[in-house]
Amino acid sequence: MLDPVSLRRAALVLVLAPLLSSPVCAEEAPKVPQAAPPAPPAAPAAAAKREVVKSGTYVLELPLGLQADAAYVPDDNPLTKEKVELGKLLYFDPRLSKDGNLSCAGCHNPFHGFADPWPASRGVGFKLGGRNSPTVINRLFSSDQFWDGRAKDLEEQAHGPLINPVEMAMASHDAVVGEVKKVDAYKPLFKAAYGSDEITMTKIAQAIASYERTVVSGNSPFDRYQAGDKDALSASQVRGWALFQGKANCQTCHVSFNFTDEGYHNLGVGWDPQKKELKDVGRFEVTKNPADKGAFKTPTLRNIVETAPYMHDGSEGTLRQVIELYDRGGNANPNLSPKMKPLNLTPAEKEDLIAFLYALTGEVNNMEPPAKLPGR
Ligand code: HEC
Ligand code: HEC
Repeated sequence: MLDPVSLRRAALVLVLAPLLSSPVCAEEAPKVPQAAPPAPPAAPAAAAKREVVKSGTYVLELPLGLQADAAYVPDDNPLTKEKVELGKLLYFDPRLSKDGNLSCAGCHNPFHGFADPWPASRGVGFKLGGRNSPTVINRLFSSDQFWDGRAKDLEEQAHGPLINPVEMAMASHDAVVGEVKKVDAYKPLFKAAYGSDEITMTKIAQAIASYERTVVSGNSPFDRYQAGDKDALSASQVRGWALFQGKANCQTCHVSFNFTDEGYHNLGVGWDPQKKELKDVGRFEVTKNPADKGAFKTPTLRNIVETAPYMHDGSEGTLRQVIELYDRGGNANPNLSPKMKPLNLTPAEKEDLIAFLYALTGEVNNMEPPAKLPGR
């Protein structure tokens, strides 16, 4: 069950989906095999390559292509089935917001690649936030969270949106706990997860973080290609993969199986050439190091076709626009990353790169919204 805002957004996506996948309207990449065909059942060889994350007694089977040794689960919050289930309910529960309409899923919507369709997110009362909603998939593989990395883990991160006035806008964390306490049906679930039915903000955040860690995406055409299925990618996608690692220089930052170095870089996104200033200083706010002005975290590229618009401010509407930004070497500004250089890509090479990005849409674990929320 989704809250009304999510439902509206999901409905929009569902209405648009057939249009987007029809060849006439495939503005992004007409020649590309379409995004997200349902993953075929894994061949036995591929199934054997699936890795598992073991946390306490919990076993999380990762989709093909994801690496268990990169998983980060803090020692004081091991995964358990009960916590994951409780966290999922809380994640989808709009009663945790000021007007009772907006859940985490409202801005990190499973039907929108766990992000949302707005350049900058919209909170309670449609209040405009300052940044684009990033995807929640594959957060298992990162400790630092947010575009500027200001939260040290998912537990800390989950505290933020609940009381952010342009997000869920609750008056305080005590008020959040109060709302959850009002729902009697949550008590046995806290008891099952923590051995006591006392409800606290720490437990709410730990449960939500546990659920998020199970939202992992893999077994994409790219992963099946890497595992030996040479038909999983089109010829154009194979050329795109070569460009990604070579001439287009993407792998300098979007590295390894989750396509991120977990680092911070300035691409000149949000630079105002008239005023000669950055609209958002990004990582600098956290480190106060002038070299970090305008630097933002390298995001994963998994399921990237589902999460437009792009960048921390949502300023690039399509993957084509993103590629044009890289092709010109980013936006010139005093702190531009030295790793950004003009690429001189041909039109055909740009098509191939976009085609490759379509190959990163995978199977997302535990994405179905709960059938029913406690007490509803
Ligand atoms: C109003 C929309 C909105 C709501 C509601 C919302 N978020 Fe977010 N979320 C955002 C935006 C925008 C950012 C990026 C903010 C930043 O980096 O400063 C973000 C960042 C995140 C991140 C960091 C991802 C990364 O790659 O660093 C996680 C995880 C996350 N949110 C989870 C949640 C959870 C859990 C909830 C519910 C408790 C929630 N969000 C509610 C909009 C929202
Ligand atoms: C210097 C490091 C670096 C290089 C090189 C790089 N990226 Fe990025 N990429 C980033 C960072 C950092 C962001 C977020 C920047 C921001 O929002 O200000 C990003 C954002 C993106 C996004 C948008 C993601 C989202 O969720 O909004 C896409 C798509 C992308 N990069 C693809 C590519 C491709 C394709 C290439 C090669 C042509 C490439 N990147 C090269 C660091 C890099």
